[in-house]
Amino acid sequence: MKPTFQSKLPNVGTSIFTEMSLMAHQYGAINLSQGFPEFDTPDFLKAAINQAINEGKNQYSPSSGLPDLLHEIGQLVQRCYIKDESRRLDALNTISITSGATEALMVAIQTLVRSGDEVIVFDPAYDAYEPGIELAGGSCRHIAMNAPDYEIDWSEVSKAINDNTRAIVINSPHNPTGTLLNRNDLEALQRLVLEHDLYVISDEVYEHMTFDGILHESVLAYPELFERSFVISSFGKTFHCTGWKMGYCVAPEALTAEFRKIHQYVTFCSFTPAQFAITEMLKAEPKHIDDLATFYEQKRDVLVNALQKSRFKILPSKGTYFLLLDYSEVSDLNDVEFCHWLTQEIGVAAIPLSPFYQAENLSKVVRVCFAKNEDTLLQAAEILCQL
Ligand SMILES: Cc1ncc(COP(=O)(O)O)c(C=O)c1O
Repeated sequence: MKPTFQSKLPNVGTSIFTEMSLMAHQYGAINLSQGFPEFDTPDFLKAAINQAINEGKNQYSPSSGLPDLLHEIGQLVQRCYIKDESRRLDALNTISITSGATEALMVAIQTLVRSGDEVIVFDPAYDAYEPGIELAGGSCRHIAMNAPDYEIDWSEVSKAINDNTRAIVINSPHNPTGTLLNRNDLEALQRLVLEHDLYVISDEVYEHMTFDGILHESVLAYPELFERSFVISSFGKTFHCTGWKMGYCVAPEALTAEFRKIHQYVTFCSFTPAQFAITEMLKAEPKHIDDLATFYEQKRDVLVNALQKSRFKILPSKGTYFLLLDYSEVSDLNDVEFCHWLTQEIGVAAIPLSPFYQAENLSKVVRVCFAKNEDTLLQAAEILCQL
């Protein structure tokens, strides 16, 4: 008898990123769909990883990460977010190195979520949150953020909280909308979390990419909120090396201890040579991170300026390397159909927003990625301006 296999994730299929990238490849379209840099990781980092490998630093690291790397990340966090000199982050006991932010998200979710728990997520939501929550036996309570501002309505969040609510997932700078949470948002979140005894997973992988002089509001800057949070970041984003799958999670000591119990059985430790290389990069090249916002802001501006004469309405991108385009003057198709048409017939691949929503979303908005070389951005814009 053939076994009848019951899926634990019956609603999960091929992600929209995979689908659109495959289609871009198949039709030879300029790929502004998937979010990864077209340019290479810095030479310093490439040399450092080669050196680590050649020097034989190829065995398991401590499960939570190399102490030197934890120390360097601690210094970075301290420099970026902790203005109060008396507040010292104990890097060795609060930071864990993970195989990408993806692993950190999955482990944080498994650490927190129990059977029957509800977790609030904001749509459009990055696609990694819900499967992890379901695997842990929990469920998502989706709250929509809508065009054109994609702001969180905190009174709606307050109404959604019930006895089963365990945690809230936030993501700022936000993929796919390019919006940022501000101080008022973080304060509203903190009030709710303290009042209802909740936890937070804060996905901050684009933390160093904020534009127009606006600084990133990290949960790490709010001591009371941090006491209940897992803050997650990605070296893949920061150092243009998404394929290395290197990330980390910062959480208070007690939560970190629980996080590490699961991390050690998911992967034990992350790629050791990359840990050595990133340690050196953080020590020797702090300018890379300091310059990252300007680097991406220039790319955003190249694309935005080149699209000025198009019929797309450009929504403001305040962070990340994504930009939303409202195509309602260009086409009546829904966003999935529009992206298929754009890729197949016009030669530019973008990502529709509706797959990021649980509820039906009829807005005519697509996401493009500007982590590309200037030539690619100009070429794509020239084609889009003809529509
Ligand atoms: C919002 C968000 N979180 C997490 C990740 C995953 O990061 P990593 O590649 O380090 O696993 C991504 C990658 O695209 C992302 O956009």
